[in-house]
This record gives sequence, C-alpha cells and structure tokens, in this order.
Amino acid sequence: MKENLYTNTQAEAVLNTIFARSSIRAYTDEPLTPEEISTLADAALAAPTAMNRQAQRFFFITDKELINKWEIAVCEVIEKNGPDAMRERMKERSGKVFYNAPLFVAIAVDKSGKYSMCDSGIAVGTLALAAKAMGLDSVILGMPDLAFSGECAGYLRERLGLAENLEFAVGIAIGHAAMDKAPHETDNSHVIYI
Ligand SMILES: Cc1cc2nc3c(=O)[nH]c(=O)nc-3n(C[C@H](O)[C@H](O)[C@H](O)COP(=O)(O)O)c2cc1C
Repeated sequence: MKENLYTNTQAEAVLNTIFARSSIRAYTDEPLTPEEISTLADAALAAPTAMNRQAQRFFFITDKELINKWEIAVCEVIEKNGPDAMRERMKERSGKVFYNAPLFVAIAVDKSGKYSMCDSGIAVGTLALAAKAMGLDSVILGMPDLAFSGECAGYLRERLGLAENLEFAVGIAIGHAAMDKAPHETDNSHVIYI
C-alpha cells in the first residue's frame, strides 16, 4: 500500500481507504445488513453531479435470481457476439460477472446528457470508497451492460422498471471479500507537474 504522508487522523483514514481499495472478484455468502445498504445509498446520493442535476438512478439489487439471470444474459451475449479475448477472459472467470456478491448497484442515466457518464463514474467511485471505509469490498462493473444488447434486455428493463430515457451506465458489486488482492501498481510518470 502507498505510504500515507498525512498524520491528521481524518485525512489518514480517508487516504488509507483510497490506497487500500482494489477490485475483489470473489465474495462470501454473508449478506449486507439493512444499515450497510442504507449507508451505501446515502453515499451514492452524496456524490456530486454536473449542475447538481442528480438525474441518475441507483438500483440496489439483492435479488439473487435477478443477478443470476443478468449474469447468464451477459455470458450469452459474449458467447454469441463477443470477441475472442472477451470469451477467453470470461472462461478464466468461470462465467462470473457479479462474482457472487450479495449486492449489485446498477447506475442508470440518460446517456444523451453531456456529463451523464462522468456523473456515474463519480458515483461508482464514491460507492467503492464508502464500501471500503465500511469494511466491505467491491468491484466496479461495466460488463453487465452487455445484457442490454441481448435477448434478455426487455426482461431486465421491465424487472428494473427502467424509464424509457434511462440506460445502464456502470455498476458495482459489493460484499465481504473471499479473496485478497493488492492494490494495482501505479506509475508516477502519469502525473505531469507544471
Ligand atoms: C469503468 C470500469 C468498468 C469495469 N468493469 C469491470 C468488469 O466488468 N468486470 C471486472 O471484473 N472488472 C471491471 N472493472 C475493474 C477493473 O478491471 C479494475 O479496476 C482494474 O483492473 C484496476 O484494478 P483495481 O481496481 O484492483 O485497482 C472495471 C473498472 C472500471 C473503472
């Protein structure tokens, strides 16, 4: 983990959370408590949006049957249309898209909005850090989007009650880690000081 140069306790706690987060791709069966889910919902809503539009919608999904159907739908699309590299990656991950996480938060936006995807990215990042600070782990997920180009799209839209103008932007699986993973390597040359 990165060295934390700040000793102020509040800054230290926040920075340690940022430096400790990594994508976790295996979860235990332990469900989240209602308090944890409610705190994560508050964190999602606290994320800033361009012009404070707050136009995105957060779907907090704990229904295992829905998550399983969504996972199968993604695999079907990859199997049918996916490039070889993606099919290979899917095999390596044993067909897991949501990694058995007990909670999946899907963020839906009107993609015609100039800052919609940016807003979603900020929200999903906020959720990842909130989860880590709460002793949970997470992985941000773009792949669930593939299901909306397959045969299951209508079912998913209806099951979510997705308004016509909204589309899946990005999501995050959250739960109790069933594996360890170090944070990714960083490259200081990617920061340009002027
Ligand atoms: C927008 C976005 C989409 C992602 N989609 C997926 C995904 O569908 N499946 C997955 O396993 N990881 C996904 N990831 C996780 C990245 O692979 C991961 O963040 C990256 O490898 C860096 O690793 P770290 O998160 O452990 O630092 C996504 C990350 C981002 C930011």
